[in-house]
Parts: sequence; C-alpha cells; structure tokens
Amino acid sequence: MTDRAAIRDVASLARVSVGTVSNVFNRPDLVAEETRQRVEAAVATLKYVRNESARQLRHGQSRTVGLIVPDIANPFFTDVARGVEDVTSEVGVLVIVCNSDLDAKKEARYLTMLAEHDVLGVLHVPVGSSRAPTRSLKERGVPVVLLDDKGPARGQCSVSVNDVGGGELAVRHLLELGHRRIGFVGHSADPAHQVIDRLRGGRRAMIIAGHSSDSLQLVSTPSLNVRGGIAAARALLRLRPSHRPSAVACANDLLAIGLLQELLSNGLRVPDDLAIVGYDDIAFAEASAIPLTSIRQPRHQLGRKAAELLLDEASNAQHRHSRFVFQPELIVRRSSA
Ligand code: RIB
Repeated sequence: MTDRAAIRDVASLARVSVGTVSNVFNRPDLVAEETRQRVEAAVATLKYVRNESARQLRHGQSRTVGLIVPDIANPFFTDVARGVEDVTSEVGVLVIVCNSDLDAKKEARYLTMLAEHDVLGVLHVPVGSSRAPTRSLKERGVPVVLLDDKGPARGQCSVSVNDVGGGELAVRHLLELGHRRIGFVGHSADPAHQVIDRLRGGRRAMIIAGHSSDSLQLVSTPSLNVRGGIAAARALLRLRPSHRPSAVACANDLLAIGLLQELLSNGLRVPDDLAIVGYDDIAFAEASAIPLTSIRQPRHQLGRKAAELLLDEASNAQHRHSRFVFQPELIVRRSSA
C-alpha cells in the first residue's frame, strides 16, 4: 500500500481531510484535541506508519541503517560505531546514530522514526531486556541485529562479548595479586545486563578461589560514567580504611577513570591503597594518569561483524541468523600491578 493511499485510509476512517492527518504528524498544535485523538485511533487501527524516505526518494529502498546506542558519550560505543561505519561506507550506506540515553521511551521513539525512514536495517544496543520496542520494525520486515546483547537463541542475529568471562578475568587477576577484600563498582538497583553478567563472573572467580558467592563488596553508582566513578570513590572514602576493599573491579573504564581521579585527588595511592581494574580498554584507559588495567572488548570487531550481518540480512534471500560471542582479554597495567 503506497504512502498516499494509507494516509487517505486514515483520513477516511477518522472522518478528516488528508491535510489534517498530515498536521497531526507535523503540526499537532493546529489540530483540536478531539480530532487528534480520532486520527491517532485510526493510525493505530490501520497500523499506519509514515514512510518518510519513500516520499523523499520516490523509489527503491533508502541507503541508510540505524544504530541505536545507550550512551554516545562512552568511547566504547563510538569505537563500535567506527567499526559499523567502516563496513557500511564500503557499500555506500549511511549510518544514522541515535543515542537512547538509557531511556526506554527515547529508544522507542527512535525505533519508530527509523521505521518511518524505511532504513535497510537497525543495529540495536537495547536499553532493557524488552524486545517490544523493535516490534514495529519487524512488522515492516526491517532487519534488527542486536549489538552488545546475546539476544534470543534464534530468530535474530546478535553480536556480543562474553561479559561473564570478562568479570571473572578481572576478579581472578586481583585474587592472583593476593587481594581478598575485593569490591565491584557499578552495581545499581536496575543494572544493565552487561553489568549483571560481569558481576556474575566476578562472583564465579570468588567461588572458585574458595570464597562465598556474596564476598564481593558491591559499590553502587548512579551512572556508568566518570561521574559514577567519582561517586563510588566518595562512598569508599567515607568507609573506615579497615572496611574498604584493597582492590575493585569496575563495570567499565569510565567508572574506573572517575574513581582513580577522585582517589588520587584525595591523597590515596593506586594501586598501593586501592588496586583498580576497568572494563572495555578504551583509549583513555592506557592514557589515564595511572594506566588502567582493563578487560579489553573487541569494540571495532563488534561493530564490523554486526554491520556485516545486517547488510547480509537486508540483501541476501538465503540469509541465516547468526549469534556471535567474542571473548574479552585482560590487559594488565599499573593501576593494579
Ligand atoms: O554501557 C555500559 C557498558 O556496557 C559499556 O561501558 C560497555 O562495557 C558495554 O558493554
């Protein structure tokens, strides 16, 4: 059904003009509340979704893919985006990068907008565990590849890293250095699945070393960035030295950098007073005031592989869904050893 026919159907069902339907999308301030509600009800009934690109391009499929990430300020995601762009630029496909800010409503709005722009497909780093947000894309037959998320066992491509193994690497490294009072920085009331898995791996390392599963000291943070790391440092500094861990594994490098910065500015020594391990191995980890030990994620490869899978699914009738899980690597530097 062409876009014009669909708008006419919506207008007829809502008993308004085509222009009024267009105003509901583009100038809702010009439309009376009752009329707007009637049009929105008709849109929902007909499952109508505007196809912006078809209006602009008037033929064929647009040459764009969407990439939705939870925090564009985190270099981890910009490195992943670089891997995506290296693949898409080779075939003349543009990347629309959307930042969901870890906000499920914003994520849903972007997914709807991408569906309206008739993109070739979407690379999606989900905010939560719900798969509902991508339903509108799937209903339109738009491929979605999950990024940094293992996703369901079938029915979808996904590219991720073994976060449980990464958490275990971090804590095992600290145990091998002789630490026993070890903290985990990055916990929260509603943790990202990556953080949950890293904590699970850390606990596994403690159990294997003969400690109880809850022996990691959890340090909660308001966010997974430098500000969260500074908050974690302040929480640790409020503890009596005898109650502080001698080492911490952080859920990502931004937390570790904020933690390091705040501890140093309060006169503590790293690693002597507190050993620190980050996660991601972004460029700032090595460049940090005290080079960070970190768990390296293959960020560029993640982006490349996800883009390759998406372009294949969008163009290859024989495409078969794949699930790639990369392995992390421990990179030892001065912040722990
Ligand atoms: O988004 C939080 C973290 O999850 C990032 O730092 C990266 O590690 C991702 O896997």
